[in-house]
Order: sequence, then C-alpha cells, then structure tokens
Amino acid sequence: MCGITGAVGLKDIANVLFEGIRNLEYRGYDSCGVALMNRNSIIVKKNVGGVGDVYQKENILRHSTHLGIAHTRWATHGQVTRNNTHPFLSCDKNFAVIHNGIISNYQELKVRLQKEGHRFQSETDTEVIPHLLEKFYAKTGDLEASLIQTVKLLEGTFAIAFITSHQPDQIYCAKRESPLLLGIGDEVKFIGSDFNAFIDHTKNAVIIDDDEYAIVSKDGYIVKNLLTREEINKPITRMEWDSETSKKGGYPHYMLKEIYEQPQTVVNALEVEEKTVDRLVNMIHKSKSAHLVGVGTTYYVTLYGTYIFSALAGRYIPAISSDEFASLSPVDKDSFVLAASQSGETYDTISAIKYAQSRGAKTGAIVNVMGSTLSRLVDCPVLQGSGPEICVISTKAALAQMILLTRTALKLGLKNKKIARKTYDGFMKSLRSLPDIIEGILNERSGFIHRVAHNHRNVKNWLYLGRGVYYPIALESALKMKEVAYVHAEGMPCGFLKHGTLAMIDSDINSIVFIPPNSEKVLYESTLASVEEIRARNGFVLGIHFDEGNRNQGLFSEELILPPVPPVIAPLIQMVIAQLFAYFTATSLKRNVDKPRSLAKSVTVG
Ligand code: AGP
Ligand code: GLU
Repeated sequence: MCGITGAVGLKDIANVLFEGIRNLEYRGYDSCGVALMNRNSIIVKKNVGGVGDVYQKENILRHSTHLGIAHTRWATHGQVTRNNTHPFLSCDKNFAVIHNGIISNYQELKVRLQKEGHRFQSETDTEVIPHLLEKFYAKTGDLEASLIQTVKLLEGTFAIAFITSHQPDQIYCAKRESPLLLGIGDEVKFIGSDFNAFIDHTKNAVIIDDDEYAIVSKDGYIVKNLLTREEINKPITRMEWDSETSKKGGYPHYMLKEIYEQPQTVVNALEVEEKTVDRLVNMIHKSKSAHLVGVGTTYYVTLYGTYIFSALAGRYIPAISSDEFASLSPVDKDSFVLAASQSGETYDTISAIKYAQSRGAKTGAIVNVMGSTLSRLVDCPVLQGSGPEICVISTKAALAQMILLTRTALKLGLKNKKIARKTYDGFMKSLRSLPDIIEGILNERSGFIHRVAHNHRNVKNWLYLGRGVYYPIALESALKMKEVAYVHAEGMPCGFLKHGTLAMIDSDINSIVFIPPNSEKVLYESTLASVEEIRARNGFVLGIHFDEGNRNQGLFSEELILPPVPPVIAPLIQMVIAQLFAYFTATSLKRNVDKPRSLAKSVTVG
C-alpha cells in the first residue's frame, strides 16, 4: 500500500513534502523516509514510526532544498525496521528510490545483482530498483534508458519514483498497476500516490497510466510510454475535493467526523444523476448474468446489494469477494460485473474486474475517488461523491454505496415490473428521509451508545447476528469492531446459531442482534426466536430494535431502541449505530482509531 510523493519547485520542499506525506499516511504508517537533493548529492533521512515522529526524530525540516521524494510504508517484504524503510540508495548513492507495490521476482534479481557486486542494506523487494538503475546508467549514461531497462526486468506491481544526482532538478517516476498522479501547481510540481499528496497546493492533476513514465521539473513535466519512449499528451484532470473537507474540523478522529458526515453523504448519493443510475440498470438488465464484487467492507456492501436486488428487483445478483472471483470463473461476454470500492485502487477488486474484462464481460463500479484506476477501467463508472474518507476504517463511503445499490435495485425493479411506480416513489421518499433520521439518531443516541460501549469495553468476544438483509449488516458491523477495536467479533446469520454456534454461548461471549421493524413480520419473528435461543442459555444479548411499545419487554439483556422507520432504511440505520458502537469501544480501549494496526486505506497489493 504505502504512500509516495515527491515535489520540486521554488518553495521550501522539505516542508511541502511533510504536508504531502502526512496526507498520505492513511495508506501506510509503519515507517517513513525522505530523500532530499542537496546540490549534487542526496540526503536520505528515515526511521520507523509515523510521519510526524520521523520528521521530528530526524530533524528533517532543517534541510532546505528545492527537490525531494518521500514515502510512508506499509510493509509487505521485510520487517518494520529502519533499514527496510524507503528511500533506498544505490551503492554509489547517486539514485534514491521509493516504491509502492510488490516486485514479485526481486529475489532472482537480487541474487544476480549481488553476484555483480551490489551490496544490499534491506530485506525489501524495492531495493533491487536503485541497484538496477545504477547498473544500467553505468552502461548507457542515459537516465531514461536506465529507467526503461530497469522496469523491463520488474515483475509485479509498482509505482516508483527516484531522484538522482546525475540530474538534480528532476524527479522520475513510472507505474504499473499501483496508482500514480502528477500535481501541476504554479510554483511546485508534484508526484503522488493520490490527490491528497498535493491537495493543499493544486487541484490540477495528470493521471499516469500503466506502462507510462514521467519526468517532472519545476517548470513542467513530460509523460512517455515505457515501451516505445514516445511522448504522450495527457489531459489535466481537475480534482474537486478541497483540503478543508479533508481536515478533522474539531472532531477527535476522522472516523467520528466521517460517521457524522453521513447525512450529507446520503444526500450526495441521492443526487448522483438519474441517467448514471439508469446506465447501470440497463447494463444489468441486458446481461444474462450479473455479479457484484468488493472486498472487506465493500464485499459486505455488495452482499447487501444481493439481498436488495433480490427483494426490490426480483433478480439474483450474487456478491463475490473480489479475491475469490477468478477462482469461481463465473463470467463471459454476456455478463455484467459491478464493483464497489471507496479508493478505486484495491488490487483484489481491480484484478476481479480485469479478469471479468478478459472474459469479455461488461463492467461497472461504484467508486469514491475520482480518477482512480477502477473508475477509469470500467465501462460504467459511478462516482458516489462522498468526499475524502481519511480514516482507514470505511464508514460514510460504504453507506453511500448502499444507497446507490438501493437506487439501482429500485430502478431495475421498476424496469422489470417487479415494483409499481407508486411503490418506487414510496421507497425513494423513504430514502430521502434517511439523512434527517441519521442526523437525529447521531445527536440523540450517541451518548447512550458511548455508555454501552464503554461498559462493555472488556468483552472479549461478540457475535453479531442478523437475518435477511440484516445479515450483511451484521458482517460489516463485526468487521468494524475487529478492525478498529481489535476485539474478536463474528458476523453470522441468526439461522446458523442452532447449527453449532449455540454451543459457544456462555458468559464469555456477548451477542448483538439486529432486529428488523415488526412490519417485516416473518423476519422479525424469526430474529426474535434466535434471541430467545441465546437467552435460554443465559447468553447476553444487546438488541438493536425499533420502538414497538412494550412488545419485547424483558427479552434483551440490554437494548438500544430506535424510533420507528420505514423498512427499506432500517438496516442502514442499524449499521450507523454499529459504527458508533465500534468507534466508542475503540476509544474506550484507547486504540489508534484513524490508523488501526495492520491495515491501510487502499490495499494496492495482492
Ligand atoms: C474498511 O473499513 C476496510 N478497511 C477494508 O475492508 C476496505 O473496505 C477494503 O480494503 C476495500 O477497500 P476499497 O473500498 O477502497 O476498495
Ligand atoms: N514492497 C515494498 C515494501 O515492503 C512496498 C510495500 C507497499 O507498497 O505496500 O517496502
């Protein structure tokens, strides 16, 4: 995953790089390093720890320079140590390299280079790159040719950038699969893994495609094809997000801010143009088989989609975890595959889409980051417009994707004549009521949820249970608890309980049950039956349910009662409650909420 950035220009670049790499920290935060050009030699400063810590420890800001590159790491090859921290230097110290991705044939290259006399300082895959550059430069004396020859030997995925004392006013970069952008400011030119690297300086970006490389200097940039060396005329993309929306704005954590932004995110998802949704609907409608793909949270989002398409459009559209998609090989030219991804850079999801395309299938994606790889790869991109989601834990982006899936299912239902126009209008009205309801619940219930989470902060195991469409909600809510609070939580359909899991019910395991509104009679009654099963074994149940008077009195060990709402939005509201529950459990346990361990915002490695 890792974040890479670089800057060249008139300003104090050490400081510019600091802001940029700090904005990319959500991509990885094991260790951080910079390479700065000092006249004709390169200074490398790096250490383990977050960006702020490393900058302070290494006193990086005292260096004044016009050009440099910076990296924040999420280790894939080699432990989190200073030696394994990027940038890496060539033996002659004339090349400094940063990298995002995996060089899958690095071992073979390393052995060859070592035989030729190159000395390695790290266990990483990345370090072969500066040595290869050094080797080819010694032969050709041509930097571009050295880059091209190096890249030809690399297998795997990469966005790489290097600076070299042979050309102290330029940054070189190239990519295959991992994301890479240029930022075109007036006084400073940038490279970055994403727009956040230069969000404070410019909205003008150039998106580098696979097998392209760029040379960036203070006055301009040039992009070329890695195979032909031909120059490519790239358009400038204007990024709409601004740096203010990326700031914490008084909230203690981005996660809380983003949970609270959800009323607005829902509005934005509802405002996505009708014709965009219709395009998606037509593609599904025309296809003989349709599939949904996502991974982690977005897999659960798409599983929610499966239920919704079935219920509202009468069409079974299975969700498959992106990483498993190719193994199931379910597509051909009559298929349509729809992905969901916040970042649009997730390796597993991109691979699933590429696999589908290789079999001739049509593709679409609901994606948050404009200009991201996925948004450019698919036939039908839908930008969800949720604004930057900085916390590594996804909240508002997932909810917005669910809204868009619901809208698509409703439109498909209308087209299929599964639902009447009147029903459609009623559902849309319910969706439009969601922002205000979430707002009210966040304002009125968060204190209570905080208390419940705090009281149960030492619970070691949670079972999250739901039936029907509440099952994906249970899965997603359990993932929230695991990833942010590091508390064991397992999502499960209620019906599973009696097939084995009831044996686990004792005082060491607590359950949370998502209860549907009682207007959904069958689902409601059967969910309550599961609660009874747990209670009969003295299990603890926290019931999240909608106000039904005294009906459930005494059934739950603890309960969180919500105002009655229309069924189509009920699961979404319950998910918001579970987000807050995970957040407050994490803060009670003093977890690193925005940057939880072993996770990164966009998982660009396989
Ligand atoms: C979300 O909370 C998780 N960190 C993770 O599961 C995430 O949803 C997954 O990696 C997919 O990311 P994407 O939406 O950017 O594709
Ligand atoms: N493979 C490199 C490393 O482990 C980069 C990792 C990444 O981009 O996630 O340092």
